[in-house]
Amino acid sequence: MSVGTPIERIWPAPVTGALTDPELTALYGRAARPHLRVNFVASADGAVTLDGYSAGLSGEPDKRVFGLLRMLCDALVVAAGTLRHEGYRAVRLSPERRAWRRERGLAEFPTLVVVSGSLDLDPAQAAFADAPVRPIVLTHADAVPPPGLTDVADLVRCGTAPVTSTDRVDGSGRVDGSGRVDGSGRVDLAVGLAELRRRGLDQLLCEGGPHLFGALTAADLVDELCLTVAPLLAGAGPGRITAGDASPPRHLPLRHVLAAADGVLMLRYARDPAGSAPAA
Ligand SMILES: NC(=O)c1ccc[n+]([C@@H]2O[C@H](COP(=O)([O-])OP(=O)(O)OC[C@H]3O[C@@H](n4cnc5c(N)ncnc54)[C@H](OP(=O)(O)O)[C@@H]3O)[C@@H](O)[C@H]2O)c1
Repeated sequence: MSVGTPIERIWPAPVTGALTDPELTALYGRAARPHLRVNFVASADGAVTLDGYSAGLSGEPDKRVFGLLRMLCDALVVAAGTLRHEGYRAVRLSPERRAWRRERGLAEFPTLVVVSGSLDLDPAQAAFADAPVRPIVLTHADAVPPPGLTDVADLVRCGTAPVTSTDRVDGSGRVDGSGRVDGSGRVDLAVGLAELRRRGLDQLLCEGGPHLFGALTAADLVDELCLTVAPLLAGAGPGRITAGDASPPRHLPLRHVLAAADGVLMLRYARDPAGSAPAA
């Protein structure tokens, strides 16, 4: 890929000069053991969206790392809310990135994994209909798929974890004011991730959104957070990168800080310093 805005490492040991794609790839890497990496972009004042979408917060350096992280993973995990709202398309990788994966014995494309309690999913959405690898939908035992969904995706049913007591459920099944329609239960994410790993999908990249990140944090399943901080104030209104029920704080040490020449910061937090091994 052609390098646009230069990105340098400024912490822990400053590296002078723009990082190449192989150097960036090595800085993120694939972990030596099963690993869940979460990737978000936020404004300097903590907003998860600008005008309702993440696109306004993301620029060329963020998109570059976003693409590299997709190249590195076995499966790309996304919540149904973000899939619907952001209009997810089929996962695509450049010929160079597909070759990088083939050379390492990986599938040419990562598998898309969608987390949905309601199964309010459109089988005609390009993320399903044009997928290069059959997607997986993590849902719960009682969820009823819409017509055509099982033609384009595998359903994996992960428990019937009850709606928590802090959720308020109205007559429509809508809970906690989040817009999350839950029907009769939540996906048991620990069981779901274990099933992905049983299928050989060890390196997981979660692209959100906030409710899924909150649930993964609450279940203590997050190994790493890659956070891009855009140099702008979004002002009041948008939510944070996490949402849902409160959970205990989790310590997550800072592992590196990259700075792009346009003032964008890319922070990598991970609980295990040895979790990632150089991938290049
Ligand atoms: N800045 C960023 O990097 C970034 C990244 C991603 C998203 N976003 C933004 O975030 C917003 C979307 O957020 P959102 O509130 O819709 O949250 P979300 O986490 O994207 O989606 C919530 C939905 O995902 C499913 N879900 C999540 N966790 C679940 C669990 N444990 N069990 C069962 N289902 C689960 C449910 O789908 P069902 O309703 O199908 O049951 C739920 O309604 C959008 O504005 C998007 O642009 C920003």
